[in-house]
Amino acid sequence: MIIAIDGPAGAGKSTVAQKLASQLGLNYMDTGALYRAVTLLALRNHVELEDEKQLARLARDMKLTVDHRDGKRPPDRVFIDGEDITKAIRSNEVSEKVSRVSSHRAVRSQLVKKQCAMAEGGGIVVEGRDIGTVVFPQADLKFYVTASANERAKRRYEEMKKEGHGVSLQSIEREIIRRDHQDSTRATNPLKQASDAVLIDTTGKSIAEVLGILANIVREHTGRAGNDIEA
Ligand code: DC
Repeated sequence: MIIAIDGPAGAGKSTVAQKLASQLGLNYMDTGALYRAVTLLALRNHVELEDEKQLARLARDMKLTVDHRDGKRPPDRVFIDGEDITKAIRSNEVSEKVSRVSSHRAVRSQLVKKQCAMAEGGGIVVEGRDIGTVVFPQADLKFYVTASANERAKRRYEEMKKEGHGVSLQSIEREIIRRDHQDSTRATNPLKQASDAVLIDTTGKSIAEVLGILANIVREHTGRAGNDIEA
């Protein structure tokens, strides 16, 4: 079984995808982490963000492994060549540059290959931007999870405030809108809802509510209780 969850940044995809995977006893894959890892390598190796060939080489050669924690928080740890890069790939610098890196066709094609290899055998919830449209068009269930830009900015603002970062709500909202625009207008595999994906608008909804909606749909789809579902 493959469940695809796509949607823009900050819509609550990760939290819901991890919880759903854990409830269903499925694995979980955060495909954004792969694009972030290539971006981190590019910054460290001083590779130009326009140098598609070099970026694709980094994507092809990186030895990325993920330590799954059964969908429990804190999230899966991500390693490149044994180095824990979980925190480094969430830095502001990587977040600012990742859309640019992920717009290159050759980078995407390398990373899609890796995603297919990582999901071999199924039994997985996969989260990203193009999972239902490009990576796993044959997924058993597809969700497109979104929320208003203002709500997504507020959630991010609260998170950052908790972590002690002093940023303004306006600047976060601006950054979210910029990233949405870049992700949804790029030529290769842009962010968009698959025609057979279920649209979930999380604006004004709690994580528990959203999870409940998704679990019900999975249950209807499989005809079994959500937590009885196996890979
Ligand atoms: O989900 P995230 O914010 O960690 O993703 C980081 C970036 O990676 C996002 O701005 C777009 C890109 N991305 C992508 O192009 N395709 C995916 N399947 C996942 C992420």
